Amino acid sequence: MNRDQAQDRIDELTVEINDHNHRYYILDDPVVSDAAYDRLLRELQDLEYEYPDLARPDSPTQRVGTLPLDTFESLEHRTPMLSLANAMDEQEILDFDTRVHKDLGPEPIEYVIEPKLDGLGVELVYEEGVFVAGSTRGDGFTGENITTNLKTLRSLPLSLRTETLPAPTLLEVRGEVFLGHADFQQLNRQREAKEEPLFANPRNAAAGSLRQLDSRITARRPLQINIYAAGVIEGFQYGTHVEFLEALKVWGFPVNEHFQLCTTIQEAVAFHRNLEATREELSYDIDGSVLKVNRIDLQQQLGIRSRSPRWAVAAKFKARQETTRILSIEASVGRTGAVTPVANLETVNIGGVQVSRATLHNQDEIDRKDVRIGDTVVVQRAGDVIPEVVKIIPDQRPADTVPYHIPANCPVCDSHVVRLPDEAKHYCQNISCPAQVKGRIEHFASKRAMDIDGLGTKLIAQLVEAGMLKTIADIYRLEMETLADLERMGEKSAENIIAAIDATREVELWRFLHALGIRNVGEHLAKLLANTFNDLETLADVELEELESTREVGPIVARGVYEFFREDHNLEMLTDLRTLGLRPRSPELN
Ligand code: IVH
Repeated sequence: MNRDQAQDRIDELTVEINDHNHRYYILDDPVVSDAAYDRLLRELQDLEYEYPDLARPDSPTQRVGTLPLDTFESLEHRTPMLSLANAMDEQEILDFDTRVHKDLGPEPIEYVIEPKLDGLGVELVYEEGVFVAGSTRGDGFTGENITTNLKTLRSLPLSLRTETLPAPTLLEVRGEVFLGHADFQQLNRQREAKEEPLFANPRNAAAGSLRQLDSRITARRPLQINIYAAGVIEGFQYGTHVEFLEALKVWGFPVNEHFQLCTTIQEAVAFHRNLEATREELSYDIDGSVLKVNRIDLQQQLGIRSRSPRWAVAAKFKARQETTRILSIEASVGRTGAVTPVANLETVNIGGVQVSRATLHNQDEIDRKDVRIGDTVVVQRAGDVIPEVVKIIPDQRPADTVPYHIPANCPVCDSHVVRLPDEAKHYCQNISCPAQVKGRIEHFASKRAMDIDGLGTKLIAQLVEAGMLKTIADIYRLEMETLADLERMGEKSAENIIAAIDATREVELWRFLHALGIRNVGEHLAKLLANTFNDLETLADVELEELESTREVGPIVARGVYEFFREDHNLEMLTDLRTLGLRPRSPELN
């Protein structure tokens, strides 16, 4: 293939793949299999690799992200990104209509009402139909340039579809980036497995995903986008907001399907009420509806008041809160040993969901709100997050209540529960604690720890459930025959796993230390501790002061290490491991 032919084929593939993408993500009507799609994409990647200068700015190969940035450049909005005034109840929606009529006279006014998406506002800029820049809202005047991150959003068109409507010379559109409930939950499950901090709600998760300097991380998060507003537009005229939304769809933008044109304010109120009643059926968070005057000339006549337009209002939903009573408080132990106080409640219906448990977060939050068993409390459900206790109702407190304290011993395994300095949570220190054992073993066997090939999540779950893995030491008690008897496990794989386990008996000390999953001891600190103390026995015996005075080891890490080796269950397991032939190699012997 010569250069001209390559150019033609690159053009062809870019258009074809973008088209398949549009069919899949916008129309929900794919016409090729995933495999066929992958083949086309691979062909394009190969050609672009050979002829990098021929790659088009709207090439779909950018969907996977590119090399990380050092910082985000700032990007000024040609016209400010405004915010919206709020209407807190139905009366305030009617008040908005009254204000509009005061300016425009008594003639009937058409409104468009749409869901208010709970994500992050962004701006997209298209020049001659090609996506050239995208930014966050920032302070409304200047945002951050997140173009490469936005290009990874599968439903964002990299170039406009212009079969039936030509592209404007300049098109700035605004919309919301968000994460669906199911995707949010899956992301948090992955983070929990990797002992990474969890996102509090889909909005935070979307924000965290979008503001990544490494766009390859953004590319792995299934972010969605809906467009709902215009910035500066040159070379395209339209008379109403509905016309604008229809044009957006034709150009290939994702537009939220639940918008409605209303000829009276009562119709809009009814839509708002209905949206609030049915919000649970949506697969993403919304926090109200947005009401907009439909005609653009009337919008212009109404104009702007300081930071928000006079032609639109955000109608908020009522907070989903109810009062109920705390029957008991239990300390729940998570996969990482974190102990979370949870209130068992007299069951109450909050926004259509039966709630009988609510998180109390941690001891500080309990103290701050002074929550006690028997209290009547306000419980809130925000978005898709776990219900939480917001506050107590003091005058409903029964006599004889006492302050609640997280127990000193783990409710699952009875080991010591420790709270490290500067941490909000209490942790069970016993890495053999049944509540933690699956997660602990997964980490122990993982690539950057002991690197036991074949001992993955599924097999570990199977072995733990069958009672064959109760502690990490049990890994070294596994036998070929028992493994081979497991469902879906051939003799050859069983042999390989046993060999992989055996190979770790003389593992480097740092890997072993990392594998133990001592709080805050990652790979780097594991190496440092191994180099400083040279063998496990020395490290286990070292005093807190000496740990604290070790270079790079702060008081939190020191306490974590110290407490780890003061927990009897852990010492027992280390003795077990020694008996089973595990001899971590000291660095000086390497
Ligand atoms: S229109 C000038 N429509 O809400 C009006 N905004 O509080 C521009 N939002 O910053 C915004 N859904 O991030 C509009 N359907 C919708 C919206 C929406 C969510 C966000 C947007 C804006 C904020 C205003």
